Amino acid sequence: MRFRYNALLLSCLLIIGCKEKNSIEYRIDETLRQLTLDEKIALIHAQSKFSSKGVPRLGIPELWCDDGPHGVRPETLWDEWDTASWTNDSCTAFPSLTCLAASWDRSLAEEYGKNLGEEARYRGKNVLLGPGVNICRTPLCGRNFEYMGEDPYLSGQMSVPYIKGLQSNKVAACVKHYALNNQEYERLQVNVNVDERTLQEIYLPAFRMAVQDGGAWSLMSSYNKFQNEWVSHNSYLLKDILKDGWNWDGAVISDWGAVHDTDGAANGGLDLEFGSHTNGVDQNVANAYDSYYMAQPYKEKLKEGTLSESELDDKVRRVLRLHFRTASDGYFGKMCTDEHYEVCRKIGAEGIVLLKNAGILPMKKEARKIVVLGENAIRPMVVGGSSSSLKAQHEISPLEGIRRAYPDAEVVYERAYYSGEPTPGKYNYSQYDITETRSAEKLIEDALAAVENADYVIFIGGLNKNKKQDCEGKDRLSYDLPYNQNEVIENIAERCPDLIYVNISGSPVAMPFRDKVGAILQGWYLGSETGNAIADVLTGKVNPSGKLPFTFPSKLEDGPIRTERQYPGVTDGQGRLQVYYDEGLYVGYRWYDKHNITTLFPFGYGMSYTTFEYGEAKASSHTMKDRLTISIPVKNTGKSAGAEVVQLYIHDQESTVDRPEKELKGFEKIWLEPGETKTVTFTIGKDALSFYDVEKHGWVAEKGAFTALVGASSTDIRSSITFDLK
Ligand code: BGC
Repeated sequence: MRFRYNALLLSCLLIIGCKEKNSIEYRIDETLRQLTLDEKIALIHAQSKFSSKGVPRLGIPELWCDDGPHGVRPETLWDEWDTASWTNDSCTAFPSLTCLAASWDRSLAEEYGKNLGEEARYRGKNVLLGPGVNICRTPLCGRNFEYMGEDPYLSGQMSVPYIKGLQSNKVAACVKHYALNNQEYERLQVNVNVDERTLQEIYLPAFRMAVQDGGAWSLMSSYNKFQNEWVSHNSYLLKDILKDGWNWDGAVISDWGAVHDTDGAANGGLDLEFGSHTNGVDQNVANAYDSYYMAQPYKEKLKEGTLSESELDDKVRRVLRLHFRTASDGYFGKMCTDEHYEVCRKIGAEGIVLLKNAGILPMKKEARKIVVLGENAIRPMVVGGSSSSLKAQHEISPLEGIRRAYPDAEVVYERAYYSGEPTPGKYNYSQYDITETRSAEKLIEDALAAVENADYVIFIGGLNKNKKQDCEGKDRLSYDLPYNQNEVIENIAERCPDLIYVNISGSPVAMPFRDKVGAILQGWYLGSETGNAIADVLTGKVNPSGKLPFTFPSKLEDGPIRTERQYPGVTDGQGRLQVYYDEGLYVGYRWYDKHNITTLFPFGYGMSYTTFEYGEAKASSHTMKDRLTISIPVKNTGKSAGAEVVQLYIHDQESTVDRPEKELKGFEKIWLEPGETKTVTFTIGKDALSFYDVEKHGWVAEKGAFTALVGASSTDIRSSITFDLK
């Protein structure tokens, strides 16, 4: 009897105390026990531009990373940024993340991640460097197009399914760029000054959701500094908040070249060093890998006893976890399938935002003559933008998409303006010649001649992915459209007031011509299926349902950033570039709400070819204890089927601290047939009512009255209801 009792106790202890055999944690323990110091060191730094070593002796393969975030980047040379010129590495280019965010469709974000993950898997990648969830603080930031807008809740919510979809293929997401990388201007050295509450409420929530709710397996530490410390060495951000605060077991990978010394990298919470001895883009030191900060110099310091092996072991555990989580299971992934292209087209069409429509769209089937204007109608756009540049197997230009949609019509093209910018990078799949010899005046003259007797005139312009446009490494210099487009568009609109303007950009831009044109579409960068997705919306094959993930101010000066110290920053007494987030919480719509400023197009805004009527919002109770549900009926009152993004904002009626007028805390996208009504239900908890208390260093929901505002955009609230938090 006693023996049986002991045996039972022993097996219970074994179950509780030991990791299940073959579980990842068990395998990590087993591997760690067998590793030599050199093998441990080899695991925590790069061995080539995009890979790190495994442990050949123990059968652990190399770890391969790749950009990210819109498709799988073509191979580079082992030790160089230059393309390897492979012929088997073209991919499906998915729409930019701003477009995905504009769809406000979580299931589509999961499809995005899943399909992209299949391609990454097929290409043998363990880690896909994305998604990017930095907040759009200024319209000028060169990388807005790789992120998901100005609101932390929207960015976080859209990143979670993307990550889950990606990782369902055993490809790790690497959420970037943690944290405060909100400008490209001097990103490699700028120090960000932001107060604790703003950091917690605006700049960190999307990262927290990505790692806690999305379960991201890795994260990229950014180039910039915080508290005058490199983020990649910053133990407050990497250890206190990310690893300990959020209880996260993933691996921190440095941005390429973001590590600056061995002690900082060793003690700050970084796990894997990439891209050192480069400026991140074009300067290299050949075969520098042994002298990486986390290579031989690390080993020497361990031997001297100035660094601890337990710290090293924590890094090795995290990197091994990444290896085991992404280890091959005999599934190979897929490349450029019909489904990938379908998903690409679907995301593109769902993300396009109809910003204005004076009854011109959708275009009629019977159109006989269509004139397409603007350089972006023919310019390849999956190339450029720097690290997110892709080699697409195909890219359908807007002109081509419109031609395919109207095979029997006369589709005339005139470029109307010329950027003079070559296509960046090596891959130009355009079937069109994008060079030009005519003068600017002649281009307008020819465009005006072409529009005679046209049923439709469509101008496809905006930004492109050259430096100082939507491109990593530099910010835009102006909020205006480049290449004199404002004037060109106004000129053409004078002749054709029904002009349809399709804006290609990943950032907000000025549109002083808004009231002079007939229709405006926000077209983003849509990847391989660009032209098809644009044509789907223009023709009404797809009823537009995208909503803006950021505000388009009428002019830059209306926005929260008004001083040089706020942007691009000022040099301090020690020669360091300092940027001050003096606007605090008031980023995007939070700012325009506070100051009652009318914008060109507000956050959350987007039109449809049908109309929606909102009923009355109802709450499950007048008081909230832990949870509350708010529901509202929405009816399609128009003639075509369509989708509406119903948005929930929370307003705190009485607070001991200053709070934004309202904040997004829920959204649902619903599809409705004509005449159909659906009830949308939001369930919120105390987290939706909380602010970050700097005294307590934690989140607090204060008792009192709150208003739930339900609407079609941040400025179009259709119904509201008040409740109390007990
Ligand atoms: C970028 C990262 C990118 C990395 C590798 C860096 O310059 O900031 O986003 O993933 O390069 O290409």
